[in-house]
Amino acid sequence: AHQWRGVINEYADRLPLLAGAPVVTLGEGGTPLIHAERLSERVGADVHIKYEGLNPTGSFKDRGMTTAISVAAKHGAKAVICASTGNTSASAAAYATKAGMTCGVLVPEGKIAMGKLSQAIAHGATLLQVDGNFDDCLTLARKLAEAYPVELVNSVNPARIEGQKTASFEIAEALGDAPDIHCLPVGNAGNITAYWRGYRESLDAAGDLGALATRTPRMWGFQAAGAAPIVKGHPIDHPDTIATAIRIGNPASWEQAQAARDESGGLIDAVSDEQILRAHRLLSSTEGIFVEPASAASVAGLLMLHERGEVPAGARIVCTVTGHGLKDPGWALKNADGSDVQPTRVPVDAVTAATALDLEG
Ligand code: F0G
Repeated sequence: AHQWRGVINEYADRLPLLAGAPVVTLGEGGTPLIHAERLSERVGADVHIKYEGLNPTGSFKDRGMTTAISVAAKHGAKAVICASTGNTSASAAAYATKAGMTCGVLVPEGKIAMGKLSQAIAHGATLLQVDGNFDDCLTLARKLAEAYPVELVNSVNPARIEGQKTASFEIAEALGDAPDIHCLPVGNAGNITAYWRGYRESLDAAGDLGALATRTPRMWGFQAAGAAPIVKGHPIDHPDTIATAIRIGNPASWEQAQAARDESGGLIDAVSDEQILRAHRLLSSTEGIFVEPASAASVAGLLMLHERGEVPAGARIVCTVTGHGLKDPGWALKNADGSDVQPTRVPVDAVTAATALDLEG
């Protein structure tokens, strides 16, 4: 049987930046595009979920990390560094380990989901908790990469965007064309930049490469309301949201995200934490897809636009959900009123258990 070989091997001809680089891979990409029947019905469209939580470290970052670390290896790098709200650090730590490099990660104080911290530590990264937010961490990481022999693997590294664009190729191949609309969460804005590049390149039949699509989708990006600089039109000094992955006040790829929005005829809007948590619960309880809160911003945005009457009937829509639910599992254990979910306790007795399970006698 064919085994997926990771995005560099699978898309070598579409990744010229990687030419001549050793391939450092954990088999990332090739994630499922899942038809979401309940969500489709709810919004009157044909909705598919690109489940990026199924990458090796549990987020879409692996697509860009295989390329960034491979290019770093080509340059002979011995050490890499990144700023992160968690997922980038988990991914960088894993791929650096695979490449035999050391990895330093700068994370904001106290706002990183436990699953992500555990990953960075497990893979042997040196973790610096910075007295500041993500934007401060990125500023510091850039300074270190300028002054010391260490490669920066945030999405300001062009190899990151190159790798992440492969998700668009997979979607165009799976659907036989690009969708009408693509929804995704926006934080540092690298991913919306990458998807847009991937969709544009899917059209391109230049050289020996076949076109994967005949059109490009409208890009619909969603920031968390408390961390929505692009929507507000100015940096946010103290970004805040329960979706810690996208708790970012001054995105590095701000201009590229606006270009993706404008060139595609799309939009970038904000969703509240409450909308995010509702979409998070809807995905797990009606579609069988468990994601971390930030990932649900794409679906929260789609639901919001549907309520406003802006989702065209029958449109083909892809929502990227960016990270696995096990990264930050605590949210599932809270009831809507904030109380803890309690298990129903039963004795070792079939009748009592059956009654508790509401099974027919
Ligand atoms: N979803 C998740 C789960 C993320 O971890 C991130 C970004 C995003 C969405 C937003 O993607 O930054 O390309 O717009 N996480 C980065 C990190 C910032 O450090 O892990 P973006």
